[in-house]
Amino acid sequence: MQSSHPIGIFDSGYGGLTVFKSIAEQLSNYDYIYMGDNARAPYGNRSFETVHEYTLECVEWFFKQGCPLVILACNTASAKALRTIQQQNLPYMEDPTRRVLGVIRPTAEVIGNYTKTGSVGVLGTRGTVTSGSYPIEINHFYPSVKVRQLACPMWVPLIENNEYQNEGADYFVKKYLDQLLTQDADIDTILLACTHYPLLLDKIRQILPTHITAVAQGDIVASSLADYLQRHPEMEQRLTKNSVRNFYTTDDPAGFDEQATIFFGQGVKSAAVEL
Ligand code: DGL
Repeated sequence: MQSSHPIGIFDSGYGGLTVFKSIAEQLSNYDYIYMGDNARAPYGNRSFETVHEYTLECVEWFFKQGCPLVILACNTASAKALRTIQQQNLPYMEDPTRRVLGVIRPTAEVIGNYTKTGSVGVLGTRGTVTSGSYPIEINHFYPSVKVRQLACPMWVPLIENNEYQNEGADYFVKKYLDQLLTQDADIDTILLACTHYPLLLDKIRQILPTHITAVAQGDIVASSLADYLQRHPEMEQRLTKNSVRNFYTTDDPAGFDEQATIFFGQGVKSAAVEL
């Protein structure tokens, strides 16, 4: 019997740390394990089958560490793997009471409150955009909101390779914002539907006209998790609460720590994981 039952936070790489940062601030007493599959990142251009296979492997790893609850802090994994894991894998596992949650539904639930014009732009990876998950989920909660999407395939590589603060990044930030805004002049809210993109927030805000708001997901997902735990006492009581935070990567821990510290906003010391 394992004595530690942390909440698992997963991303293909560093991006999920932007969500974990908000979660750790809002729900500081729980134990957490963060794992980035850096060795196989980015997931954004990969097929449904591959994203499902990789994500499931990681979810199983979290379960082995004693996590009864895993958050896919990755839009691509949430778009391409979450439903299959919830409906086709989880019910047949040894303990079907464990849970895997994503970041798309909690974001879709509230994003309609940000727009005054009723027009929202969604920026994500190719995988997230082609899955159509955001338009479907947002229109489920806000049927009259217009949703325009654009894939930004260069942004994650710029971030994962620590080039996102350099001048080269300016070109690609402006390029995708212009392309999105030419789709609809009414867009007043831009959702950063990739957990890596908040690292580009300063550049994005410098380029955007002041009447357009760029929205990152971290605080939204953290509030939604707090709400989930309140509504699910059976899960809440299973979780251990010693404020322990452990970090793992499928790639080199030294490289991970340096980058992860920037994303997380405080020192990170990780260990390597073999899946
Ligand atoms: N951070 C991930 C997301 O939210 C994607 C990064 C990747 O392409 O691996 O979609």
